[in-house]
Amino acid sequence: MTAISDDRLVTIFGGSGFIGRHLVRALAKSGWRIRVAVRQPELAFHLQPLGRVGQIHAVQANLRFPYSVARAAEGADAVINLVGILYKSGKQTFDAVQAEGANAVARAAAANNSQLVQFSAIGADAGSKSDYARSKAEGEAFARAAVPDAIVVRPSILFGPEDSFFNRFAAMARVSPVLPLIGGGQTRFQPVFVGDVAAAVDAVLAGRARPGATYELGGPEVRTFEELMQLMLRVIDRRRLLMPVPFALARMQALFLEMLPNPLLTRDQVRLLERDNVVSVEAERESRTLRGLGIAPTAMETVLPSYLVRFRRTGQFWRRAETA
Ligand SMILES: NC(=O)c1ccc[n+]([C@@H]2O[C@H](COP(=O)([O-])OP(=O)(O)OC[C@H]3O[C@@H](n4cnc5c(N)ncnc54)[C@H](OP(=O)(O)O)[C@@H]3O)[C@@H](O)[C@H]2O)c1
Repeated sequence: MTAISDDRLVTIFGGSGFIGRHLVRALAKSGWRIRVAVRQPELAFHLQPLGRVGQIHAVQANLRFPYSVARAAEGADAVINLVGILYKSGKQTFDAVQAEGANAVARAAAANNSQLVQFSAIGADAGSKSDYARSKAEGEAFARAAVPDAIVVRPSILFGPEDSFFNRFAAMARVSPVLPLIGGGQTRFQPVFVGDVAAAVDAVLAGRARPGATYELGGPEVRTFEELMQLMLRVIDRRRLLMPVPFALARMQALFLEMLPNPLLTRDQVRLLERDNVVSVEAERESRTLRGLGIAPTAMETVLPSYLVRFRRTGQFWRRAETA
């Protein structure tokens, strides 16, 4: 937690999401007044108890409507853009939300002379075949063009209560005897704790980041997808068959799965899995990392058991008693 911020105002676009909830708590502790800008403000009311009375309030904004974005950023000392999507759906395309939407936020920040933090992702790349990665790079470029001092934050996958990675696979393991290892499960990740990412943004707003820099946030360990599945299974005390699925076959499966309203897998996600998702050597060398912001990364083993416990096999106490 940083020093009290003299009641300065921050607007957080996408503040009702997974990272948003943790970030709102961290910034409220640091004394920020917080405007949570979301499509449906009534769904963000649960955030208000995270601060003192009147400290946190929700307003309506949709990144596809620049007027609503400009209104939500009015008078803000800092603006954070957390909005992102994992798959396209109707008008919620990657270009509309992650590229043009980021442009709307950046222009609104520039109009108010606000500090800007743009959330991107490791792997953002203007030349990527993945629409997710390409649109993230375009969002970064829009942020820089409008606010040259903007800080870009690129995390690897996140873990923490309500994450979509470990919770999703642990839920799958509860009902399925087999878990897929897409591309053989050898893609490398550097999972980062959501609390550390929130602390990093708190540090950025406190002026501890290099203006105009891109920070890559990863945890203390690099693990393959297969190793992450093995760790998750150990935590929930279940044995499951880990079945390698070649990328070509995964793409064919995704072709059908992506037609579902909340798809388990899309072809775009398979493209992302073809590349490692770890902090770059350059970012490490230049300390554009968690440690560079003064944060010691938290290990998965210390946090996963606290929220994956609900997926553990029932009856374990009896088995323990039997084997004792
Ligand atoms: N979680 C990870 O592992 C991870 C890893 C790397 C990068 N990131 C990036 O970090 C950021 C936050 O991630 P997260 O996990 O917190 O995502 P999340 O839980 O899915 O939250 C995304 C937020 O964006 C909002 N949103 C979506 N479309 C919108 C629109 N058109 N206008 C306004 N708001 C909209 C959502 O609100 P609604 O309720 O209105 O949909 C939600 O509040 C994203 O940019 C993501 O790409 C996340």
